[in-house]
Amino acid sequence: MIVISFTLYLPGLADSSSLSRQGQAICVTGAGGFIASWMVKLLLEKGYTVKGTMRNPDDPKNAHLRELEGAKERLTLCKVDLLDYESLKEAISGCDGVFHTASPVTDDPEQMVEPAVNGTKNVIIAAAEAKVRRVLFTSSIGAVYMDPNRNPDAVVDESCWSDLDFCKNTKNWYCYGKAVAERAAWEVAKEKGVDLVVVNPVLVLGPLLQSTVNASIIHILKYLNGSTKTYANSVQAYVHVRDVALAHILVFETPSASGRYLCAEGVLHRGDVVEILAKFFPEYPIPSKCSDEKNPRAKPYKFTNQKLKDVGMEFTPVKQCLYETLENFLNMVQYFGKFLICRDPIELIIVSK
Ligand SMILES: NC(=O)c1ccc[n+]([C@@H]2O[C@H](COP(=O)([O-])OP(=O)(O)OC[C@H]3O[C@@H](n4cnc5c(N)ncnc54)[C@H](OP(=O)(O)O)[C@@H]3O)[C@@H](O)[C@H]2O)c1
Repeated sequence: MIVISFTLYLPGLADSSSLSRQGQAICVTGAGGFIASWMVKLLLEKGYTVKGTMRNPDDPKNAHLRELEGAKERLTLCKVDLLDYESLKEAISGCDGVFHTASPVTDDPEQMVEPAVNGTKNVIIAAAEAKVRRVLFTSSIGAVYMDPNRNPDAVVDESCWSDLDFCKNTKNWYCYGKAVAERAAWEVAKEKGVDLVVVNPVLVLGPLLQSTVNASIIHILKYLNGSTKTYANSVQAYVHVRDVALAHILVFETPSASGRYLCAEGVLHRGDVVEILAKFFPEYPIPSKCSDEKNPRAKPYKFTNQKLKDVGMEFTPVKQCLYETLENFLNMVQYFGKFLICRDPIELIIVSK
């Protein structure tokens, strides 16, 4: 497989504290994934030593990590299965912090629930044994938002929890798995005396560092190839992948940080998304008609990201995030002429220019 490199706008992240981070080691689980790759990149840029876990370090889909600045000197890739406690224990030992980001991202209950829940428990137990200073768990808005009884005008914040029965009844196994995993993380952390902090990102977009396309990026790539003729009458909250990675680092580095942190920049109706994309990329067949012309336009929900702003987070505007996502992807398309997106299990989309 070819590893793709492309030009990105990246804010300078080196800072005067990087000296004090030298020697501090962070274990990032699922290091080759979309969000985790950004964590590894930013941690290396900030001077940390990183141990990245993955099921197969030799898989070419993880090769981009070895190209990151500082990787040669301070990145180790470890073969770890979340359900194999001994392999996790070895990777986590000697680390000051753990960013537990690995998780299946699927609505297949068999693939989702056990690795998400038992894998998370294993991470917290191994972190307790290794006496790490703090564990960051990448949860999700899926563990926060799915509650049919919440007043639609209420502000979604860190006190909200998804209703497990509702997730089950609607077969939303991803949200179910993430909510149960987060609950388990809190329980085990309390029992074992682990300092746990949780980040709950909304749908994450932005430039890919890896050569494969993950599930959340497909959310907007589907508008590029003409196969989607209309947009849905629904809303979605978005955040930039670099901000998600940075949020984890900020709360790791803030001694007083605690609890959950909702990581969201803005909520848009799909109509707004396609309008923004069409302005930036007029040459693509981005839909302009809503699939539902009968019902009133869905209203964006209210949320607060104040808790993260209070620890110094500055969010990338959602418009820029949409632009960077497609610009990065189209650079790849231009490079190859044609690009095949594979989504587990068998969804294929061909984008050509
Ligand atoms: N992307 C979003 O919009 C979004 C939003 C909110 C929260 N999140 C959360 O953020 C995290 C990363 O998401 P992402 O979008 O970056 O996903 P991704 O690119 O698909 O990465 C997921 C990572 O998890 C690992 N993984 C998957 N199943 C596993 C299993 N059974 N055992 C061990 N490792 C496994 C994979 O590693 P291998 O190389 O071993 O396959 C992969 O590196 C997940 O916890 C997800 O729930 C994502």
